[in-house]
Amino acid sequence: MDVPILTIDGPSGAGKGTVSRLIAQQLGWHYLDSGAIYRALAIAITEKQVPLDDIAAIVDTAEAMNLIFECDATRHITLDGHDITQSIGLESTGNIASKIAAIPEIRAELLHKQQCYKELPGLVADGRDMGTVVFPHAQYKVFLTASALTCAKRRYKQLKEKGIDANLSKITADIQERDQRDSEREFSPLIPAKEAICIDSSDLSIEQVVESVLGLLHA
Ligand code: DC
Repeated sequence: MDVPILTIDGPSGAGKGTVSRLIAQQLGWHYLDSGAIYRALAIAITEKQVPLDDIAAIVDTAEAMNLIFECDATRHITLDGHDITQSIGLESTGNIASKIAAIPEIRAELLHKQQCYKELPGLVADGRDMGTVVFPHAQYKVFLTASALTCAKRRYKQLKEKGIDANLSKITADIQERDQRDSEREFSPLIPAKEAICIDSSDLSIEQVVESVLGLLHA
């Protein structure tokens, strides 16, 4: 039986993670946080002190990494037996993730790991290239955006809620730099899939975005 897939792509802070998780919960579908896979690899190479230009060593690290997302209420993430729940959300981790994500050999290595999440009864996949590269045949595709200021404010709030020290103007600059790198890279750039429905979440609540995405699925 064909596995239904909903892809939600978009820039940092557009609300993809929260919206995708809520929709997956409501539908009883699996959830893929593809950004977390790139972030986990960023943590793994930082711990091993692998330089960013040693592509072969980064690919080997990607191949060997054992990443576990707990599905219980704690939502803990472990990498090779270590709890990385806190460090995975840091802006510094996101910046390294964005740099290694521009390297085609690394994207190719992580492609299959992401595609393995396709399982019945369905999958909500959140990232930058879910609808264009990882699941091009997905039945439902959404591209979620928001104004740069909205994205930065949301990221700031998320970090503060996790008890992570944050500065709004630094976050704004970091997000802009990261989104520019993610959008302008040659391989699998952040662009909407042709068939994607674009939703600007700047003036919408999370519940409103969830409702309009669910509306698309039921249409
Ligand atoms: O969604 P996020 O902020 O956790 O993602 C961190 C970085 O990982 C992002 O800046 C670019 C990269 N990424 C990617 O290139 N492709 C994806 N599908 C997901 C994330």
